[in-house]
Amino acid sequence: MSLIFNLQSLGVQFGRIRALKACTLRIAAGERVALVGSNGSGKSTLLRALHGLVPPAAGSLWADAQARQAMLFQRPYMLRASVLHNVALGLWLNGAPWQPAREQARQALERVGLAELAGRNARVLSGGQQQRVALARAWALRPQVLLLDEPTASLDPTAKREVERLMAEFADTGMTLVFSSHNLGQVKRLASRVIYLEQGQLIADLPTPAFFKGPLPAAAENFLKGELA
Ligand SMILES: Nc1ncnc2c1ncn2[C@@H]1O[C@H](COP(=O)(O)OP(=O)(O)OP(=O)(O)O)[C@@H](O)[C@H]1O
Ligand SMILES: [Mg+2]
Repeated sequence: MSLIFNLQSLGVQFGRIRALKACTLRIAAGERVALVGSNGSGKSTLLRALHGLVPPAAGSLWADAQARQAMLFQRPYMLRASVLHNVALGLWLNGAPWQPAREQARQALERVGLAELAGRNARVLSGGQQQRVALARAWALRPQVLLLDEPTASLDPTAKREVERLMAEFADTGMTLVFSSHNLGQVKRLASRVIYLEQGQLIADLPTPAFFKGPLPAAAENFLKGELA
């Protein structure tokens, strides 16, 4: 399996806050990695670091430059423009000429089942629809690596299922997924590996069945008990 990410004692700092501390981690192509942990534990920071959005303060982060990445943020950002434009613009910004970008955007919207919304103003869509537009925008880039920050956090059960189904389908094509989630059911359904963070540290890093079977370090056990209660 080829390596996608290699982090050696990575530290990330925001002023005096150490958001990530000595994180050592390798992620190989095709893995489906879930990041779990309480609020402020560093999940979003780790995803942003993987995507090259925050610089290391210590240690090193290597990412395979050949593996195209796309990232889905917790609250998708939609421009005040049509759904089609929102998706096409992502492609155009990545170097595609406008007409092919529009055509690929149309295909991507079809892929996520939103073709009929192509002409609507993206800003007025529901949260679930916007998240699917964001998924289409990411998918249109044909990424080998998809980073998702709490992709279904604000979605109703139907939209949640739909986004999960798309994530599973993307993973089936060999795409590497790294996602954060507070939904342990979702973690069980989608992840092949679970990383538990606490106060910026990787406390547990296990294949999904082993993570849920335990035993885990006490902090992770307590977290799991709290989440399942
Ligand atoms: N841009 C920033 N500036 C200052 N501090 C930040 C910034 N981003 C994150 N932090 C801090 O870094 C720590 C980790 O935050 P992060 O957002 O990564 O946590 P999280 O695990 O994603 O939490 P949540 O479950 O609430 O989304 C927190 O203490 C947070 O306050
Ligand atoms: Mg977060």
